[in-house]
Amino acid sequence: MRRIYLDNNATTPLLREAFEEMRPWMLDSFGNASSIHQPGQQARGAVDRAREQVAELLGARPGEIVFTSGGTEGDNLALFGVVSPGDHVISTTIEHHAVLNSCRRLEAMGVAVTYVPPNADGVVPAEAVREALRPETKLVSVMMANNETGALQPVEEIGSWVREERAERANLYFHTDAVQAVGKTVVDVERIGCDMLTVAAHKMHGPQGSGALFVRRNVRLNPISAGGAHERGRRAGTENVAGIVGLGKAAELAVQWLAAGGEAEMRALRDRLEQGILAAVPATRVNAGRAARVPNTSSIVFEGIEGEGFVIAMDLKGVSVSAGAACSSGATEPSHVLSAMGLSAEDSRASVRFSLGKQNTAEDVDFVLAELPAVVSKLRELSPAWSGRR
Ligand SMILES: Cc1ncc(COP(=O)(O)O)c(C=O)c1O
Repeated sequence: MRRIYLDNNATTPLLREAFEEMRPWMLDSFGNASSIHQPGQQARGAVDRAREQVAELLGARPGEIVFTSGGTEGDNLALFGVVSPGDHVISTTIEHHAVLNSCRRLEAMGVAVTYVPPNADGVVPAEAVREALRPETKLVSVMMANNETGALQPVEEIGSWVREERAERANLYFHTDAVQAVGKTVVDVERIGCDMLTVAAHKMHGPQGSGALFVRRNVRLNPISAGGAHERGRRAGTENVAGIVGLGKAAELAVQWLAAGGEAEMRALRDRLEQGILAAVPATRVNAGRAARVPNTSSIVFEGIEGEGFVIAMDLKGVSVSAGAACSSGATEPSHVLSAMGLSAEDSRASVRFSLGKQNTAEDVDFVLAELPAVVSKLRELSPAWSGRR
């Protein structure tokens, strides 16, 4: 059966070129990057080259890249690395759980946290974030692109007023979780004006279990795990050389993809899917459809259906999509992101996320458009909520 994978916000397939770069570091070249002998120094060289590749993608300096095990660790390192009891943090109600649950833990440690909600378009207004500022605010953490809707947040605006504020006081930092933006759109740490920025390799066709945190030179970061002085004392533990090399190669390929107009092509493909669905299926609408979004994500409400039933029915047709965030699948509660935007529990459960990757083609989209309307009709026929309404 033909399989079409449209759940790239959960994870993306590893690019073959990235795998080929990783292969030797999993087999023949196995040195510890901290060792001074030749195999160790070769590993060190590979890690440093990847640091340059990631830095180039983000417009950062290589020394500002700290390798991690992925998005969750990067977010934890950013938050726990700079915040102490008594501080105040500003975040949002639409963050990924890697940030939200870190904030909850900070609250239990005596940190005050303000969670700013989004508007109905899924965008957190920069002004509302600014209004939450207090004299003791230490960190502002606002994601760059939402994983469920793809909505881009006003990070440049936030970065610019954080810089203004910092003219008055040094101890204020801005972190952005850019896991769903990096590799899909231009992410430039200077333009954003952030102090820390989280990257996950597996959301940009690199390997799972590998990521990076950009940490600006002036940030005093306390490592969250005790150990050796790896990553200039910011992240202890022997480096995952193969994973880091894979991330570096994925970053290099992302730079080329963006330069070659990949973003516009992906957006056209996503729009073809989205417009095709809206045209073929009545009573559908796009979540955050009026917001600027990353080019690959489309979250659609199909009134009268259960998203999970849709996921299973499409899976039987060979198409992988997701009902809400992958991390919360299995949980029956409606998505915290869609609820925060004001969707009813019913509409939230009727929402499905389509997320494209670089491997997807126009044929994939056409196949989905051919199969999807009948799947929705069938689910609606079986839905008491739908038949009661019609
Ligand atoms: C916005 C965002 N942040 C953080 C994460 C966590 O990344 P990881 O799975 O690499 O730990 C994800 C994963 O879905 C995400 O979408």
